[in-house]
Order: sequence, then C-alpha cells, then structure tokens
Amino acid sequence: MHPRVIRNLSLVGFMGTGKSTVGRLVAEQLRFGFLDTDEMIEVTVGDSIAEIFRREGENNFRTMERNAVMKLETLDKTVIATGGGLVIDPANLQSLKRHSLVVCLWASAEAIWERVRHQSHRPLLQGENPMEKMRKLLAQREPFYRQADVLVNTDLRPIREVVPQVLHHFYIARHTAA
Ligand code: S3P
Repeated sequence: MHPRVIRNLSLVGFMGTGKSTVGRLVAEQLRFGFLDTDEMIEVTVGDSIAEIFRREGENNFRTMERNAVMKLETLDKTVIATGGGLVIDPANLQSLKRHSLVVCLWASAEAIWERVRHQSHRPLLQGENPMEKMRKLLAQREPFYRQADVLVNTDLRPIREVVPQVLHHFYIARHTAA
C-alpha cells in the first residue's frame, strides 16, 4: 500500500457537531487556510444552502457537493469543514482521504438536538417532528461517519478541548505518514 498523503485536514460529522467552529480554530493553530464546503457552494451559486435546497432539491445539492469535493483535491495546508451529509457518498470520503486526514466530530443525538433546536437555517431539520428526523438521519449516517480516520467525541468536551484533540491526531498522522 502507498503511504497516505496528508496535506490537509478534513472535518466531517453531523450538523451541529462544531465542524466550522473547530475547523477555524484548528486552522489558526496550524496556520492553515480554512474552507467550508457549504460556503463554497453558496459562493458558487450565489445563494444560501436553505434557498438552494428549496429551489433545486436535495439531489442537485448533492451533485454540487460532489463537484466541490473534487475541487479540494489540489489544496494544500487547508482545514476543510464539510456539510453533514457529504460523507454518505463513498466517493466523497475516498476523495478526502486522498489528500487529508479525515476527522469525524461525533456527538450524541441529545447533544446535537440541544445545539440545533433553535436554529432555522438547516433545511433537513424543518417541518414536522424535527427531533425524530434528526435521530433517524444520525442513525442512518453513523456507519458512514465511522469510516473517518479518527472519531473525536465532542459530547462531554467544550470546543477549547476538542481543538487540541484534533490537532493531536493530525500531528500523529503526519508524523506516521511521513
Ligand atoms: C446537511 C448539513 C448541512 C448542509 C445541508 C445538508 C446534511 O451542513 O450541508 O443543510 O445533509 O446533514 P452542516 O453540517 O454544516 O450543518
């Protein structure tokens, strides 16, 4: 097997696990750039994720996500925060693993619910019984999140403790891959 090339760090995980917040802080520490796939898509399309879902539907959004992921392959020294549903396409995870260490931020359904319940910008958690929807989605996606290189549980830790954990895994992986 070829040694892994780890130029970047990707954060995957369910909505509300802190990917963007943790990602920005990790990038600062590493003096890396920071990119968020949702933001990439919003800039390309010129609209919010909620509006893209409403107008184009989820399938078209997933195609945009796949296109965004393929563009990441040329990056260097970048922390990438990904949309919560991105890794359900195995090609996306494979692509991320070609250039980055893939860290999954994990949280229990209860913790996620506490973080997202007052937010309205997440199209998949709108409508009737959003908590039930969230639990179902999380259960469906768990096997995909588990395919990340590293899982970091954020349940009992404040962000300031998650950041050094992620950095630690990155340093070890870079050292081992070199
Ligand atoms: C989604 C998560 C969102 C965004 C879109 C779909 C999902 O990203 O990509 O609303 O399928 O879980 P965050 O995880 O950053 O909220």
